[in-house]
Amino acid sequence: MSHVFIIGATGGVGSRLTAMLIKAGHNVTALHRKPEQAKQLSEAGTTPCLGDIMTMTSDDLASEAKHCDVIVFTAGAAGSGLDRTTAIDGEGVVKAIAAAKANGISRFYLVSVFMDAGRDKPRKDGFEHYMRVKKQADNALVASGLEWVILRPGTLLSEEGDGLVNANFAIPYGSVARGNVAAMLAALIDTPEIKRNIIELTDGDTPIHDAVASLQK
Ligand SMILES: NC(=O)c1ccc[n+]([C@@H]2O[C@H](COP(=O)([O-])OP(=O)(O)OC[C@H]3O[C@@H](n4cnc5c(N)ncnc54)[C@H](OP(=O)(O)O)[C@@H]3O)[C@@H](O)[C@H]2O)c1
Repeated sequence: MSHVFIIGATGGVGSRLTAMLIKAGHNVTALHRKPEQAKQLSEAGTTPCLGDIMTMTSDDLASEAKHCDVIVFTAGAAGSGLDRTTAIDGEGVVKAIAAAKANGISRFYLVSVFMDAGRDKPRKDGFEHYMRVKKQADNALVASGLEWVILRPGTLLSEEGDGLVNANFAIPYGSVARGNVAAMLAALIDTPEIKRNIIELTDGDTPIHDAVASLQK
């Protein structure tokens, strides 16, 4: 069993992933930025850890994650401004990479974005910046020397998902249930043989277990 440090544990993907990992018997330390989230995280079986990725240093993160052997980064600014996107989706990942290295945590799972997103519709303000920051975070992780996996989901849907996906190194763009993203992350965490891969993910018709098995071939 792993001890997983989740950055973004209260989010749409992160909260579902947290529940799945606890159910599977993993330990989870859950970073959260609002004090009132601690009770629910505790009741869910996690070790809550109060902190804001914008103000925490990499040393702060390393200290909070010191007993962990896996880091998942699924936080995001969610369109709350250019500076916050830079600080959370970009610099937050860089700090988490430094914390992983400082602690000797080799396994790092990053929820990135499908690079085809938004190509077929008018772009909202900040979208190009968001995509650029996400790509820079991917670049930093690939260069880190860690045993990373970058998951690039299509447009996220607030649904539990049916456990059926399309996951491969290059696939057509589409949407994906947040529950399917969480289940894919949980399956990847249970398959440490898959590392140093960038995986695109949408809803599809392949059971997650089979999709993960195919990625090992
Ligand atoms: N939206 C899409 O269609 C889409 C597509 C592809 C990829 N993605 C990416 O997928 C990931 C997960 O998305 P999601 O929809 O699950 O995200 P979400 O529901 O918006 O959750 C974001 C998480 O990040 C946390 N967070 C935000 N600012 C923080 C800070 N300063 N310090 C610590 N934690 C902070 C939030 O905490 P609070 O609970 O306190 O807010 C929450 O736990 C994100 O990285 C996103 O960019 C999104």
